[in-house]
Amino acid sequence: MKIKILIIEDEPTMRIGMSHFLSSSGYQVTTCEDGAEGLKQIDRGYFDLVITDLKLPKHDGLAILGHAKKFFPLIGVIIITAYAEVKTAVQAIKDGAFDYIAKPFSNEELLITVERFLKFRNLEAELNRLRESVSEKIGFENLIGVSPFMRDVFDRIGAIAKTDVPVLILGESGTGKELVANAIHNLSLRKEKACIKINCAAIPENLFESELFGHEKGAFTGATETRKGKFETADGGSIFFDEIGDMPLSLQAKLLRVIEDHAVTRLGGNEPIRINVRGIYATSKNLKDCIASGAFRGDLFYRINVVPIVIPPLRDRKEDIPYLIEHFLKYFGDKYAKPELKITPSAYEALMSYMYPGNVRELKHSIERAVLLSRDGLIDLKSFPDELSVNKTENAVSSSFHFDDIPLQASIMSLEKQRITKALKETSGKKTEAAKKLGISRKVLWKKLKGYQID
Ligand SMILES: Nc1ncnc2c1ncn2[C@@H]1O[C@H](COP(=O)(O)OP(=O)(O)OP(=O)(O)O)[C@@H](O)[C@H]1O
Ligand SMILES: [Mg+2]
Repeated sequence: MKIKILIIEDEPTMRIGMSHFLSSSGYQVTTCEDGAEGLKQIDRGYFDLVITDLKLPKHDGLAILGHAKKFFPLIGVIIITAYAEVKTAVQAIKDGAFDYIAKPFSNEELLITVERFLKFRNLEAELNRLRESVSEKIGFENLIGVSPFMRDVFDRIGAIAKTDVPVLILGESGTGKELVANAIHNLSLRKEKACIKINCAAIPENLFESELFGHEKGAFTGATETRKGKFETADGGSIFFDEIGDMPLSLQAKLLRVIEDHAVTRLGGNEPIRINVRGIYATSKNLKDCIASGAFRGDLFYRINVVPIVIPPLRDRKEDIPYLIEHFLKYFGDKYAKPELKITPSAYEALMSYMYPGNVRELKHSIERAVLLSRDGLIDLKSFPDELSVNKTENAVSSSFHFDDIPLQASIMSLEKQRITKALKETSGKKTEAAKKLGISRKVLWKKLKGYQID
């Protein structure tokens, strides 16, 4: 079906020029010369998009916009402005216009803006469809997520939280490992007791032992008091070893002993003290590689890897991004007293297509920064760090595939499917190898194969 566009422009050459050009580009175009006629046309409820001049006889562009948005919220409105009216144009965007184009503009500029609107509209429809299909909650504890991957994570947390089995949480930096650890503790029967966190990458090796196991008075120079270690403090609760892959080898042996004996001995002490703790471990390292290189003990790995929970990187679960955006926007909007912030479509597109090497943490920080930088209630592309917006254009330019005509989400999926198929061909169907090539886990690959119905 042809897209129907209404042009409201009093200046004849402009009006006829635009109409000709858009018709020849395949759109069905209707024109009118003033605001009053424009309103009448809009009331037919027939148009997908209205392109209106700001200055018009009988009702100006802002009145047209207000009317269209009030009665036909799905109609897109693009405002044409003169250079001096840019301030008003910004107001128009706040009031719901899709975008504005400043005179003088080329036919290409006009077409790009129209096409961007159509892409945006498709994306929005897709989002609404997704939202409706998500009848369940969009998160679990403090974790936001709707993707099948995150649903799996939630299921797993629910299944093991009330048991005492050790949990190993794996995921790149910023994927939410600590949130998962907290959720496990908070849903456990130990929730009234402490959840003690130990960052294995941050404690100097020589202090580690006394931190963990405590010490008796006089155990070493400077040990002027007897002190309980973290294990004792966590008694009855949980102990969370973050960055377990960075634990010094010498300590790994001692940790293993504690896990096996359920007891610790303070430095300088000789009585083992019984402890009852649940161990939760997290790392962004590949522990199997660490074992291979001799940096991690295989026997400790088998002890802690009873229930692994793998959190996939954000780029592998783009469905979660809209919900995370909404969540952080609300959170930081409240925090910095900037309610009802709006994101421009181009900024939204950039957020959706970025690869997020820093995962959810990076998205969260980007939005916090954008909220702080936002003016007039609007977050646009300029509010984000360069890599976010630049990356987007690079993606578009470097792709060999012609993505411009399909909705954004579909183009991401299509690119993904292409790459997976290619990797499988290159590895003669060997999934482990293909996953390696793609930099994803075998499990993630398996899910994607299922999702895309690739044989
Ligand atoms: N699913 C999610 N929903 C809401 N917030 C999230 C989610 N995942 C991560 N975050 C937020 O992102 C930030 C990073 O999360 P977290 O510290 O748990 O990551 P991590 O995997 O432990 O990272 P690192 O390996 O760098 O320690 C936190 O501010 C957290 O609140
Ligand atoms: Mg962490």
